[in-house]
This record gives sequence, structure tokens and C-alpha cells, in this order.
Amino acid sequence: MASVLVASNRGPVSYVLGEDGALDARRGGGGLVSGLSAVSSQDSLWVCAALGEGDREAVRRGIAEPGVRMLPIDPQVYADAYNGIANSALWFLHHHLYDIPREPVFDAEFRRLWTSYRAYNHEFAATLAAEADQGAAVLVQDYHLALVPGQLRELRPDLRIAHFTHTPWASPEYLRMLPDDIREELLWGMLGADELGFHTRAWADAFLGCAGDGRDGTRVTVHPLGVDGEDLRALAHRPEVDRRLALLREEVGDRRTIVRVDRTELSKNILRGLLAFRELLTVHPEWRDRVVHLASAYPSRQDLEVYRAYTASVAALAEEINAEFGTAAWTPVQVSVKDDFTRSLAAYRLADVALVNPVRDGMNLVAKEIPVVSEAGCALVLSTGAGAYEELKDDALTVNPFDVSETAEALHTALSMPPSERADRSKRLAAAATALPPQRWFLDQLESLRNG
Ligand code: G6P
Repeated sequence: MASVLVASNRGPVSYVLGEDGALDARRGGGGLVSGLSAVSSQDSLWVCAALGEGDREAVRRGIAEPGVRMLPIDPQVYADAYNGIANSALWFLHHHLYDIPREPVFDAEFRRLWTSYRAYNHEFAATLAAEADQGAAVLVQDYHLALVPGQLRELRPDLRIAHFTHTPWASPEYLRMLPDDIREELLWGMLGADELGFHTRAWADAFLGCAGDGRDGTRVTVHPLGVDGEDLRALAHRPEVDRRLALLREEVGDRRTIVRVDRTELSKNILRGLLAFRELLTVHPEWRDRVVHLASAYPSRQDLEVYRAYTASVAALAEEINAEFGTAAWTPVQVSVKDDFTRSLAAYRLADVALVNPVRDGMNLVAKEIPVVSEAGCALVLSTGAGAYEELKDDALTVNPFDVSETAEALHTALSMPPSERADRSKRLAAAATALPPQRWFLDQLESLRNG
């Protein structure tokens, strides 16, 4: 039994099944992992889904990390819930991603998928109900598990239940696209919590707009997750990062760098970022051969056709730009498609300009990480649609994510900024970025849940 429980779709560890039948454990990073390390694993339990065959095999063999429980949800139910509802419906609603003339289509198939989503949430609720001490605190994470608070409240009225949304929340008009009964069930699920956390005021207000007067006794709070500066700097100065940095420096030469690091994710707006870079080279030809765009865009959610198509468009556009402007000595855009944290950290250190231009994003930790790590200080070009905008806007060059020309001009201004101004801004950005490190972020929520 546990007194602090966390529930999330993706857990802190995943298993890869080797050809020889051995299981290799891979530990993930991220804010939640470092946040939960603030409480002892003896009193805490992290409930997550078995994501793939490796994880399911680990469950079958009874292999588990201390304090972690993986749920071997039926693969079809899991695929329906994760791909069909969480990533195709809820993600699209919260990020305003639909191509409206064609989508969404809420038909009989959608209702079938929704039944799986409800069942998948219920497996979490049932496990949490079975594992929680009397009066325990349960912190449920993200849009995958929006029904868990309501379901868990029915099973265990004694628990203190929080839910934290790491994405934006849909505007009321957007959420109204959902069939009424489904929208009501979604809000019922969320409002089963004592406390609902969001990264920014804007997303909390969007939720309040959707919930209307229906939220008896549920507090809505804002906890903007930041980065642990010391930790991140230590990670960025490991010898393997030094080696990658030396290689990157050789490739880049004495040119400036514009750095971005994202999952290849529709909401990250990578295509308009590339279009802005192309416009920069067209409108300000003085930057030709003097700047390299280092773009990490590593694969994500490739089960979904729309993500595969997006990944292909990113590669094609980068190639077009290289064909148009590149020379034997200069490759303008270098796209890296590997999820390679070592390379990302090396790129962070080298960044003169950071480009973070999502159309809509819960927080965006990259915007916070690059100023902490960049060696000479970086100028941050930041979208008004990122959650991080609220905290970083004063020292960033802010852009409308749809305005490619404005973004191109901001890149020009960022590249032209005097080094001392860049360093000063970067210092202030780093201070704002580290204001609420993960452990504090987690403990604040726990305290507020227990005392509220
Ligand atoms: C966002 C979500 C997280 C999710 C992550 C990666 O940040 O808020 O809940 O884990 O994307 O997406 P994935 O589908 O690979 O877990």
C-alpha cells in the first residue's frame, strides 16, 4: 500500500526485448521522474501502462522496478485508447489541430474507441483504488487519464485526488465539437479531482470556461513546471556531450547556429519554422553561409498516418532548402531524426538562437532548457502559443506562430543581437526557467492537495 501514488500513461522505465530474449530496461527522464524523486519510493507507487511487447513481457516475467506498477492492458484496448482517443481526439482538441473541413468525425467507430478509453482509464482507477492507503494522495497525469479522477472518486471517496494537465486545454468552442454526452463525461472525469493543475493561467481559464458552473469543490490551480538548472548543467557537461560538441563545432565552423529540438509533432510547427528560415535566407541574403539551422525532430506517434506524413514533409522541406541554398561547403539545415539527448545538449550549448514556435503547447521545456545551457547565451524566438510564453515573454523575441515573415524577422533580429544583450537576456531567461524546478513543482502540488 502507498501513501503517494502517481498515474501516467508513459512510465519512468520501458523494456526492450532483445533477439536473445533478454529484456533491457531503459529509464526515461523528464519532469515527472525528477519530481517524484522528492518522495521516497517506499511510500510511493507509480502506476503506468505497459506500452509495448517488451513491457508486457516484463510484466509476464514479474520484472518490475521498485515503486513502479505497469498495467498489461489488452493491446487492442490500449491501441484504441492511446492512438484512437488520447492522441487522435483529445490531443487534437486541446491543441486545436483539426483540419476542420474534414475533421473531426464523431461516428459509431469513435464511440467504440471511447468505450476502450473508458475501460483503459478504469484499469488505472481500479489499481489505484486497490493500492492506496486510507486518505492517500493520488496525482493523475494528463489527457490520457482524464476519466480516472471521477472513476476513482466512486471507488475510494476517502482519497485526495489531483489531476495535472501537461497539454493546453481546449477553448470552450473547440471542446463543444465533442458530442454532448462525451464532453460531459470528460468533464465529469476531471471534476472528480479535488485539485486540477495546469501549466499556465491561460489553460486553467480555458478549462474553467469549459466546465462552467459545474465544478463543485474542485480547485483549479496553476503550477508552471520549470527545469532544475544545476542538474541540467551537470548533464550538459558530461564528457560524451563535450565530444559531441566538438564534432558539431567542426561541422558548423565559425557560423552562427539556430537550434530547435522537438518530437516530430504537429503542434510544434516545424514546417513554418523551416519556412521562416528559408525566408530569412531570401530576405536577408547576408546570412547565407553564415548560419546553420540545427533541427532535431525525432519521430513520435508513428502509428498515426498523419504523423508519418508530417515527418516526411519536414524532411522534404529541409531538403528543398538545402538544394536551393546549400553549397559544397555549407548545409543550411541539418535535420537530426534520432532521439539523442546527448546531441541535443551539445546543440543547446552551441545555440546562438533558439527557435521554439509551437502553435499551441502546454509548457515547452526546450524553451527553458536552452537558455540555461547555452554557452554564449542565446536569443530565444518564442511563440505566443507556448505555455512558457507567460514566464519568458519579457526577455524572448515573441512571434505569432502562424506569421512566417514575423518569425523570419525575429530570427534576423536574434542573429544580429549584440553579444552582451544576448547574454543578459539569456541570464534572465535562465532565472525564470529555473524558478519552479520539478521537485518543488511536485511537492507544492502534494502539499496543496493534502492541506486543501
Ligand atoms: C506530451 C504529453 C506527455 C507525453 C509526451 C510524449 O508531452 O503531455 O504525456 O508523454 O507528450 O508523447 P508520447 O505519446 O510519446 O508519450
